[in-house]
Amino acid sequence: MNIGILTGGGDCPGLNAVIRAIVKKSHQLGWECMGIQNGWKGLIEMDMLSLDIESVSGILQKGGTILGTSRTNPYKIENGEEIVFENAKMTGLDALVAIGGEDTLGVAAKLAKAGFKVVGVPKTIDNDLYGTDYTFGFDTAVNIAMEAIDRIHTTAESHHRVMIVEVMGRHAGWIAIHSGMAAGADMIFIPEHIISIESVIKVVNNRKKRGRKFSIIVVAEGAQISESDRKEGKMILQDEKLDAFGHVRLGGISNVLADLIEQRTGVESRATILGHVQRGGSPTAFDRVLGSRFGVYAVEMIKEGKFGKMAALRGTEIIDIPIEDAVTVTKTVDDKLFNTAKVFFS
Ligand code: F6P
Repeated sequence: MNIGILTGGGDCPGLNAVIRAIVKKSHQLGWECMGIQNGWKGLIEMDMLSLDIESVSGILQKGGTILGTSRTNPYKIENGEEIVFENAKMTGLDALVAIGGEDTLGVAAKLAKAGFKVVGVPKTIDNDLYGTDYTFGFDTAVNIAMEAIDRIHTTAESHHRVMIVEVMGRHAGWIAIHSGMAAGADMIFIPEHIISIESVIKVVNNRKKRGRKFSIIVVAEGAQISESDRKEGKMILQDEKLDAFGHVRLGGISNVLADLIEQRTGVESRATILGHVQRGGSPTAFDRVLGSRFGVYAVEMIKEGKFGKMAALRGTEIIDIPIEDAVTVTKTVDDKLFNTAKVFFS
């Protein structure tokens, strides 16, 4: 048995733990592994390397992915699907493990429907993949953000400023809610609820009246603002250009909020965009263990012929679900969690 491994989309702490686990479990079964470089691009361009036990030694604690990644979409390339099938056949690949988020796994789901032998492993720091309680990478991102917010707290207090910390999260506010709650933020804004500018101003002014001279606001990059309590809000884009999966580049909502707050309350305000810092560096213990469990499970799925399925965490168990289920719905922050977080807004 010869199995291919690819990592696609944004990188994520814990990817190497998954790769290592797949190679080690495969080795135990006497199977061979091929690393496909730079996501789907490597399968289109036949950019692959053989992965033996030695090649995955010492990578567990390393951030990023030893295979490289890209946002290449085979379905945006002429005859992309056929090329993937042909190249897999030519290389002697019997099955593939696709490690990725909604885009990479969306391609895997389409290929599986066309008869390609692929299983999925859910990856994203955003934690917005449906069907799994957590994706690996999320815990590391939350801890990085929490530590940054803790540091921002001391400077906010010294300068009596409103500090707005912008974290990642395009469609879902998981990083914002978790890091904001963990670091004691005064307000948290997430894509699931439109931010009314008036309510932000009210909170900052109320804090001022109560003698609280600083505020910490955590905002997800995909949150939307509106001038009043309207249903539609405005997303802040860094760039209108679309990538191969149709995504714009988000970023900058914290700057907009900082300007508005300063203008309307007179309190000096500053914005910090954490950006890709949240995706870099060594994974936490939780992500190393989750990634390792997903990797071993992916090989077991192949052994049992469970193609078109994705490993998922449910409670404390790893189970499998159709890849398609995970990519058709976005897992957003539920009202119950948001209302709990709101208890600490003041
Ligand atoms: O999908 C994860 C993510 O980290 C998003 O939260 C963010 O908007 C995006 O990736 C950034 O992607 P890039 O690395 O292409 O700038």
